[in-house]
Amino acid sequence: MRFFSIAQMMINAVTKPRQHILLQEIPPGRMIDIGGGGEGVIARVGGPRVVPVDKYLSEIHEARGNAPAAHWMVADATTLPCNQQSFDHATAFFSCMYMPADVQRKVFRETYRVLKPNGEFWVWDVDMASKSKVCAVRLHVALPDKQIINTIYGVRAKDQSADGLSRLLQEAGFETEIITDQKRWFLIKAKKAA
Ligand SMILES: C[S@@+](CC[C@H](N)C(=O)[O-])C[C@H]1O[C@@H](n2cnc3c(N)ncnc32)[C@H](O)[C@@H]1O
Repeated sequence: MRFFSIAQMMINAVTKPRQHILLQEIPPGRMIDIGGGGEGVIARVGGPRVVPVDKYLSEIHEARGNAPAAHWMVADATTLPCNQQSFDHATAFFSCMYMPADVQRKVFRETYRVLKPNGEFWVWDVDMASKSKVCAVRLHVALPDKQIINTIYGVRAKDQSADGLSRLLQEAGFETEIITDQKRWFLIKAKKAA
């Protein structure tokens, strides 16, 4: 992003109300976290049960200190270096917003492939519209151990909604349910059938 876009994004973020997310639970068992760098939110909660995957080593370096027990992996989630059915469950915490729709499509197919039957894929993300130019969301995330993470995620805006992401997840083979649909963010739980 150019300096002007970053400045626009910051203005966009600070002029919008902070979004509160109570992250009471994540899925049980051995999990893959797609786009897990940055704050490493899911890895902080799940520790050694989590394989956070990120395309950029720099994003992992940023996150690793907060969750050293997680099994960090540098990989593009469109082609995961993992066997099929190797994880019980999967998550993507505000990562899909950083992917164009064609990448989301590939990532959802790959996630489906590496999940065991009955595996769930929990996707937290933002509602945005391309007419806004930039999209930034300011989050206050409360973890189960009472830690608080205050952060901002921002990207060049595109059209994205819970319904749209659900459709892409269904195309990949998942059954989906929109669990939370707030004005600015949503949580979808997708499931691979038995
Ligand atoms: C800013 S982070 C989002 C939040 C992160 N889950 C956290 O806990 O803070 C989004 C991450 O998705 C990663 N990402 C985007 N496209 C990816 C892909 N195709 N494969 C793996 N990671 C990807 C980015 O590198 C970035 O680190």
